[in-house]
Amino acid sequence: MQTLKDYFTDQFLIGAAVNTETIQRDQMLLKTHFNSITAENEMKFEEIHPEPNHYHFDIADQILSFAEENGMALRGHTLVWHNQTPEWFFTDEYGENVSREELLKRMKEHIETIITRYKGRVYAWDVVNEAISDHDGEQLRQSKWLEIIGEDFIDYAFKYAHAVDPEALLFYNDYNESNPEKSKKIYQLVKGLLDRGVPIHGIGLQAHWNLYDPSYQDIERALKCYSELGLQLHITEMDVSMFEFGDQRVDIKEPTKEMLYLQAERYQRFFELFLQYQDHISSVTFWGVSDYYTWLSNFPVKGRRNWPFVFDQMGDPKPAYDRIIQSYLPSAVGSPAD
Ligand code: GLA
Repeated sequence: MQTLKDYFTDQFLIGAAVNTETIQRDQMLLKTHFNSITAENEMKFEEIHPEPNHYHFDIADQILSFAEENGMALRGHTLVWHNQTPEWFFTDEYGENVSREELLKRMKEHIETIITRYKGRVYAWDVVNEAISDHDGEQLRQSKWLEIIGEDFIDYAFKYAHAVDPEALLFYNDYNESNPEKSKKIYQLVKGLLDRGVPIHGIGLQAHWNLYDPSYQDIERALKCYSELGLQLHITEMDVSMFEFGDQRVDIKEPTKEMLYLQAERYQRFFELFLQYQDHISSVTFWGVSDYYTWLSNFPVKGRRNWPFVFDQMGDPKPAYDRIIQSYLPSAVGSPAD
């Protein structure tokens, strides 16, 4: 049987975000269909560096072993982020903000410790996550990083990471990446980094999408705009929610036929776009494995399940799976089945 990773073997890696539970329960699916993984939470600041001078590597190490035992690539996620980063990191013993110099020193130490440990084994890092603002007229999001260090915290993060592992591919990663206003800001940010000679190798498009948004036109515009920077593009956190962003319904207990159909249609079109930009896109990662577990169940609407992936709760392929495979066929020179 041809599997997801086999179909796209000449185009991109097919990845999944995992945690300790899913590498157990969904291990067959992972081994069969995926050749790349990302730790969903286990390399984030608050998990890997919960207290001063204390790093907690066990779980990240387990995820790395799983990747290596199964010949999978591992994406590192994430080093510098406004979220899931403990308050103590930014403050002194009196609870006051530390100085710019002190925060840069702490940032350097954090990045160096983690990248050194996984050097040569984590091939790509989301160095800075979600630094761009979603508000009109504001380029960078308000955060402790920005407040204390200033705009160049991003430059420093990439430079520190590159100095430790010059072979690692370094990414800027963000959501709402296909929104026309936000994609212009992301483009500007990354162009500025390149103009200043900052070592950055790629843009991560999170791709937390749904049945209705974003439009194909916006996605294509974003892919075109980012690809003009000449960097690699990774789709880093893809899921396709069954609900429009403002939809608060909690009464739907199973996906309807219509939802499954629309989702399949969306996935096919998304993959057609990815194939169109295959010279730029080198990895497509889903933010989970199967519908059994997704961060979107209970979030942002409590008491609501969601079914955003191409494998159902039992791990069986959904209509979206078949449609993704179909996306491959028309544009392929020869299908892998030949
Ligand atoms: C963002 C982060 C991810 C994850 C998702 C929600 O996209 O980059 O690490 O927290 O939110 O799961």
